[in-house]
Amino acid sequence: MILRTFFGFCLILVTFGVCQAQFFNFLNGFGRSFSGSENVINDSDEFLDEYDFVVIGAGSGGSVVANRLSENPDWSVLILEAGKDEIFLTDIPLIASLLSITGYNWGYKSKKLKTACLGLIDGRCNIARGKGLGGTSIINFLLYTRGNKKDFDDWESMGNKGWSYEEVLPYFIKSENCSSCEDIAGEFHGKSGYLNIEHPGYQSPFVKLFIETGMDMGYPNNDPNGRNGLGFSRVQATMKKGLRCSASKAFLKPVAHRSNLKISPQSRVTKILIDHQTKQAYGVEFIKNKQKYTVRARKEVILSAGTINSAQLLMLSGVGPRSHLEGLGMEVISDLPVGYNYQDHMAMSTIAFLVNESVTVSDLTVQNPIDIYNFIARGKGPYTIPGGAEALAFVKTKYASKSNDDYPDMELVLGAGGLNGDVIGGFRALLGIPQKFFDSVYAPLIGRPSFSIAPVLLRPKSRGRVSLKDSNPLHWPVIEPNYFSEEEDLATMVEGIKMAISIAHSNRFQRYNTRINPFPFPGCKHLRFGSDEYWACAVRHVSTTLGHHVGTCKMGPMGDPTAVVDEQLRVYGVKNLRVVDGSIMPNVVAGHTNAVIFMIGEKASDMIKDSWKGF
Ligand SMILES: Cc1cc2nc3c(=O)[nH]c(=O)nc-3n(C[C@H](O)[C@H](O)[C@H](O)COP(=O)(O)OP(=O)(O)OC[C@H]3O[C@@H](n4cnc5c(N)ncnc54)[C@H](O)[C@@H]3O)c2cc1C
Ligand SMILES: *[C@@H]1O[C@H](CO)[C@@H](O)[C@H](O)[C@H]1NC(C)=O
Ligand SMILES: *[C@@H]1O[C@H](CO)[C@@H](O)[C@H](O)[C@H]1NC(C)=O
Ligand SMILES: *[C@@H]1O[C@H](CO)[C@@H](O)[C@H](O)[C@H]1NC(C)=O
Repeated sequence: MILRTFFGFCLILVTFGVCQAQFFNFLNGFGRSFSGSENVINDSDEFLDEYDFVVIGAGSGGSVVANRLSENPDWSVLILEAGKDEIFLTDIPLIASLLSITGYNWGYKSKKLKTACLGLIDGRCNIARGKGLGGTSIINFLLYTRGNKKDFDDWESMGNKGWSYEEVLPYFIKSENCSSCEDIAGEFHGKSGYLNIEHPGYQSPFVKLFIETGMDMGYPNNDPNGRNGLGFSRVQATMKKGLRCSASKAFLKPVAHRSNLKISPQSRVTKILIDHQTKQAYGVEFIKNKQKYTVRARKEVILSAGTINSAQLLMLSGVGPRSHLEGLGMEVISDLPVGYNYQDHMAMSTIAFLVNESVTVSDLTVQNPIDIYNFIARGKGPYTIPGGAEALAFVKTKYASKSNDDYPDMELVLGAGGLNGDVIGGFRALLGIPQKFFDSVYAPLIGRPSFSIAPVLLRPKSRGRVSLKDSNPLHWPVIEPNYFSEEEDLATMVEGIKMAISIAHSNRFQRYNTRINPFPFPGCKHLRFGSDEYWACAVRHVSTTLGHHVGTCKMGPMGDPTAVVDEQLRVYGVKNLRVVDGSIMPNVVAGHTNAVIFMIGEKASDMIKDSWKGF
C-alpha cells in the first residue's frame, strides 16, 4: 500500500514537473536498492591533456566503441556525454514514454511542415533524442529488432564493402546475450555479449490473438530476428530481469573500472578540432560545469552524438555543405552533404480499439499493489512491457507484395493499451497530442479497456534535412523531416492502417467485441470516417515518429556525391575522424534502429582496432 501510494505519487509529481531534480535524486537512491544499479562512474573534473581516442556521446554507438577500444590496456579512451547518469525511473520499461518530459530528452521540435504533424501541438513534430549515459537507449521503447537481411545487402550493393547481411550478422551476435530467450532461432543469437535481451515478463490475451490472426493471414509466428523476414511474434526487448538494459548498462558500467577508460557525463562538446593545413582531427573542446576544456586525441576522434547532433557538430567544426557554412560566416574544411538524407519511421499510434473486458493495460490499471510488488520483487508483470508494446508483425502491403521477397514495407505493433488509458499523459506528451484533441477523441472513453495496433512505415521515400540555425554550438539545429512529402509514403501508410483495423476487427478479436474508437480526429471530421481520404488526413495530422532518425552522415563509396563517410566510417577529407552512430545508415532499416547501431559500434570497433594494430 505504501509502495502503491509512493509510486502513484511519483508519477503524478513527475508529470506535473514538480521539483523534478530533488525528486529524481530521491528516487535514484530509493530505486537503486531494487535495481541493484550502483553508481560506478567516477565523475571527476580531472582530465589528461591527451587520450588515444576521444569518443563524443555515450549513446548506443559511442558506448560500444568506448568499451571495445579500452579492451586494449595500452590505449587510453575518453568518452564525453552531455547528459547525466540514469536513475531508477529510467529502468522501468512500461513508463518509457514518460521519460520524454524529463531532462533525459533533448526535446527538439521540427520546423512546421505542410505534409505532417498538422494536428500536433504547435503544428510541429516532437523529435525526441536521449541525453545521458546511454543516449537514446535510455528513453527508447526497448524493442529489439535488427532490420531485414535485404537492408544490409542493399547497403553493400550501394558500394559499401563489408556491410552485407552475412558480414554484419556476426556483430549482431557478438553484442547480444539472449540467454533466457524462448522460441528463437538459436543460430541467429548470441549468449556471451554485453547486451541483455529477454521477453517481457507479462502477456495480455491479445498477443495470442494477434499471432493467430497473423497465421490466418498466412504469416508465420517467427523469431523476428531469425531466418524469416515476415511474420508475427512476441517482442524481444533490451531488458535484464525486467529492467531496461541501456547502452550504458550493457557496455559502459561493466567496464567503468578500467583505468584506461574515463567516462565523463555532463560534458558538452562544442567543437571538433581539425587542423586547417593537414586536415587532421586532433582533439575536442567541451564544457563541463560551466568550465571550458580542451583535450587532444593522439589517434582518433570518434563522433557518436546521434543523427541530429553528429551532423550539427560536424558543421560547427567546418565539415558540411560549403554554401550553407559560408552563408553563416563559417570556414569550410571539407565540403560534404552533412545533414541531408535524414530518414525516419512514422507510426500511427493514435488508433485505439475498445474491448468489453478489463484485460488491457493503462495508467489506471497498473496502480495496484500486486503489479507493483511483482515488478519490484520479481521483475515481472505489466511494468515490464516495453513502452507498452507486446507483439509485432512485419508484413507487406499491396505496394510491396508484387515482388517475391520477404522484405516488409509495414510493421504492426500491438500495444497493451490505447491512448484513452493515457490518463497521466506521458504518451501524449511524447507524441505531442494537444489537450483539445485528447478531450474530443479519447476523454469520453477514459476507464474503458482498449488496446492499439500501430502501423509503422518501414521504407519511407521521403527525405529530410538537419542544418545549422547559426554558428552558436549551444543553439538548436534546424530539423526539417519532410515526413510524407512523397505521396507513395502516404498511400502505403493508409494501407497499413487498414491492415491494422482488419486484424482488430477479425474473428478472433470478436471474443472481446473489439471496435475501433468511433470518435473522429479533429481536422478530419469533414471526411467520411474510415475512408481512405479520412485516413490520409489522419496520417498528415497525427502520425508521429518512432524516433528512428538516421542518415545525416551517410556512408557511401568515394565518388558518391551524397556520402559523408566511407565504408570504414571515416569522414571524407578529414583524417582521424570517424562517425559511429545511426547517422551513417545510407537507408533506414526495415526495423527498429537500436540493435543496428550496437552492431555498427561493434563493427566500427574492429575496423578501428585494425587500423591501429601495433600502435
Ligand atoms: C521515443 C523513442 C523510442 C524508441 N524506441 C526504440 C525501440 O523500441 N527499439 C529500437 O531499436 N530503437 C528505438 N528507438 C531508437 C533508438 O533508441 C536510437 O536509434 C538509438 O539509441 C540511437 O543511437 P545513437 O548512438 O545513434 O545516438 P544516441 O543514442 O542518441 O547517442 C548520442 C549521445 O550523444 C550525446 N551528445 C549529443 N551531442 C553531444 C555533445 N555535443 N557533446 C556530448 N555529448 C553529446 C547525447 O546526449 C547522446 O547520449 C527509439 C527512439 C526514441 C526517441
Ligand atoms: C577518480 O578519478 C580521479 C581522476 O581521474 C582519480 O584521481 C581518482 O583516484 C579516481 N577515484 C577512484 C575511486 O577511482
Ligand atoms: C548472460 O545472461 C545470463 C543470464 O542473465 C548471465 O548468467 C550471464 O552471465 C550473461 N553472460 C554474460 C557474458 O554477461
Ligand atoms: C464480450 O463480447 C463477446 C462478443 O459479443 C461476448 O461473447 C462476451 O460475452 C462479452 N464479454 C463480456 C464480459 O461482456
